[in-house]
Amino acid sequence: MIVLGIESSCDETAAAVVEAGRRVRSNVIASQVKLHEEYGGVVPEIASRAHAERILPVVQRAVREAGIELRDIDAIAVGHRPGLIGALLVGVSAAKALAWSLGVPIVGVDHIEAHLYAGLLDDEAWRAGDVFPALGLVVSGGHTTIFRCESATEVRKLGGTIDDAIGEAYDKAAAILGLSYPGGPVVDKRAQRGDERAHDFPISRLKPGSLDFSFSGLKTAVLYAVKGVPSGAGWDAKAPVELSEEAIDDVCASFQRAAVGAVTLKMGRALEQWAGEGPKAMMLGGGVSANSRLRAEMLRLGEERGVPVRIPKMAYCLDNAAMIAGLAYERLSRGEADGFDLRAAPTGASA
Ligand code: KG4
Ligand code: ZN
Repeated sequence: MIVLGIESSCDETAAAVVEAGRRVRSNVIASQVKLHEEYGGVVPEIASRAHAERILPVVQRAVREAGIELRDIDAIAVGHRPGLIGALLVGVSAAKALAWSLGVPIVGVDHIEAHLYAGLLDDEAWRAGDVFPALGLVVSGGHTTIFRCESATEVRKLGGTIDDAIGEAYDKAAAILGLSYPGGPVVDKRAQRGDERAHDFPISRLKPGSLDFSFSGLKTAVLYAVKGVPSGAGWDAKAPVELSEEAIDDVCASFQRAAVGAVTLKMGRALEQWAGEGPKAMMLGGGVSANSRLRAEMLRLGEERGVPVRIPKMAYCLDNAAMIAGLAYERLSRGEADGFDLRAAPTGASA
């Protein structure tokens, strides 16, 4: 079965062709980073317009690169929640038009659940019994969430952030340091050169046993380390701060130690609290799962606790449509599909 996936929830316009839910035949991503860069974040209206301009060329390229014709497609999958509503609408409308004109089923997929599926792509050997139940972790620009996954499509939230998402914290730390947007990749790179003990940034624990996250304290600690602690009239939030290159590297390294430390702590707790025999795997997904330290610490935790860790290939960490098509196949193989009344929704099933 050949599924064409479409993804347009935020600032990447993506389409992919996936065979049997596992074999990725093409994975096309048109990033809008350049359009949003000067604003230091995603501007929803600009994103919607850019999706509308790009969606058809991106779909055409995905079909061409897969070496198929439109008539070979058996179903259309689309990420229909959560995300920016105007952005999602472009993908959902394109998916409906394609499904209608080709006379094939349409399947709406939750973007966050699709991130968890990304680690299973390009691996044709996995069987549900080897992977599930799994402990899931989605770390992205909008989410920091731990899940219990009974299968690819049955996931239950165990904990999540009470304020900023981890990717958002990376982006804000980078903005405070005057680094480029999005901040995650550049902070990750500079952290590898810096001294992680230069600043004693807090690792938020919350209540004993809690599987929730908080990153706002860490963000404030970075702000104070860079601009000083405000007193009296405080400081001008917009005034640039001169830091040496080494001092920037040190803030990045100390931030990364605390941010990733919080995730490792909560994943360790989740393993301790797991009811029953223990998970068969840990499944990671989302843009921040591209982070070098997070990948290394999760692999170490898995090794320590005897739980295999599935981390997506780099190409499937960030927003992509292969994960959408892959997860849709799981639903299709159970006889499930949606109708043309499928709606875009800004919030997810597991928000
Ligand atoms: O999953 P994604 O592409 O979009 C959302 O669904 O949010 O994730 C984007 C986020 C951004 O915040 C970006 O800074 C972060 O992922 N990111 C990273 C790295 N690469 C991307 N954060 C830390 N380290 C990285 N290497
Ligand atoms: Zn995402």
